[in-house]
Amino acid sequence: MSDSFLPTGITRSHGVLHVEALPLTDLAERFGTPCYVYSKAAITASFAEFEQAFASLRPLICYAVKANGNLGILSLLARLGAGFDIVSGGELSRVLAAGGDPGKVVFSGVGKTSDEMAQALRAGVLCFNVESAAELERLSQVASNLGVRAPVSLRVNPDVDPGTHPYIATGLKESKFGVAYADALALYQRAAGLPGIQVNGIDCHIGSQITELSPFVAALEKILLLVDQLAQSGIQLHHLDLGGGVGIRYRDETPIDLKDYAREVAARLKGFGGRLLLEPGRRIIGNGGLLLTRVEYLKTSATHRFTIVDAAMNDLIRPSLYEAWHEILPVTENTVPAVITDVVGPVCETGDILGRARKLAVAQGDLLAILSAGAYGASMGSNYNARPRPPEILVDGDRAHLIRRRESIKDLYRDEWPIPDDL
Ligand code: LLP
Repeated sequence: MSDSFLPTGITRSHGVLHVEALPLTDLAERFGTPCYVYSKAAITASFAEFEQAFASLRPLICYAVKANGNLGILSLLARLGAGFDIVSGGELSRVLAAGGDPGKVVFSGVGKTSDEMAQALRAGVLCFNVESAAELERLSQVASNLGVRAPVSLRVNPDVDPGTHPYIATGLKESKFGVAYADALALYQRAAGLPGIQVNGIDCHIGSQITELSPFVAALEKILLLVDQLAQSGIQLHHLDLGGGVGIRYRDETPIDLKDYAREVAARLKGFGGRLLLEPGRRIIGNGGLLLTRVEYLKTSATHRFTIVDAAMNDLIRPSLYEAWHEILPVTENTVPAVITDVVGPVCETGDILGRARKLAVAQGDLLAILSAGAYGASMGSNYNARPRPPEILVDGDRAHLIRRRESIKDLYRDEWPIPDDL
């Protein structure tokens, strides 16, 4: 069988798809389907790729928790020395529960509540990436009430087009994210005078699944212009956070070579004395995970063939939400003829499509692997249609660690009650 592409950690051996040394057939037997399977080696390798490419700049790599916030994954990355980019008090709690160092945490997001600010200040996070004037005022107030100063970067919106899906482009001027470039200088001056604020750095994040280098370079150049203007007005910054957004191969994309990215950044950061921060999510874990599912039924309509599997849009919403492509491979070779088929889930939505018009040789009961599902897969999962979320398994060589058990049906309504008889 010729597989179009197999990410690191995934191989086909004797006709069977493996994650590291484990056949997916064995994992399906042991943990049931659907289930998420991650490769520890793949995640470790992509983290190391960032470290090595950027070695000369000694960056702090703050993994974006939203991509996959499982405690098993976070603890692995914490052990590798990662910092974390969080966007909620919930993500901060996850990082701490996983043994992450709060001193390596940056807190992004447009809607931080006062409680979340206080939680992060008490935990001692490295920096708040502040996204509006109103947030800055509130943060100063919350920090003053606690008798501390909040370390701050402004997330500046450099207004560059990352050339990605409109839902995941964040650096355009019409976006809700960040502070307008033209307002940044004045807001920094305001920040420098606020009692509860300690100006620390500058931040930008222009979007996600970016496969060209030029938008990153354009954003960096605009940010550095601002850094110079700030220095002239007496505001020295200690770090520059370039955000995340580096894309991966899902189908036939050619991802950015991190060494090229690092070279472009290093060439432009020569005059900057501070530290570089990065916030990669997808590039760390996207290709390090897959969703394993079993074919329940084959069905033919007047115009389409359907392969109905036991995973659905509630488990992996990317194809439904962004028409994103995820490669779908049979776990074992089947001798039935290949047909063009839509791979769909059992959820009661026409949009519950995991793969459209795929050429597959499958029969009822076969296993399929939906690739590149490590990022924004489990973390965007829901219980729609009262479907328990699948287990997550981290494979390390020939060992499989359960890092999240399958939800039970009772888990789904354990916090609900029927109304009392007298209501
Ligand atoms: N930093 C900030 C401030 C972010 O908003 C994000 C992602 C990241 C870092 C990490 O970006 P990455 O390196 O993973 O591209 N659900 C969408 C992606 C949304 C990304 C949101 N922000 C998807 O499934 O494609």
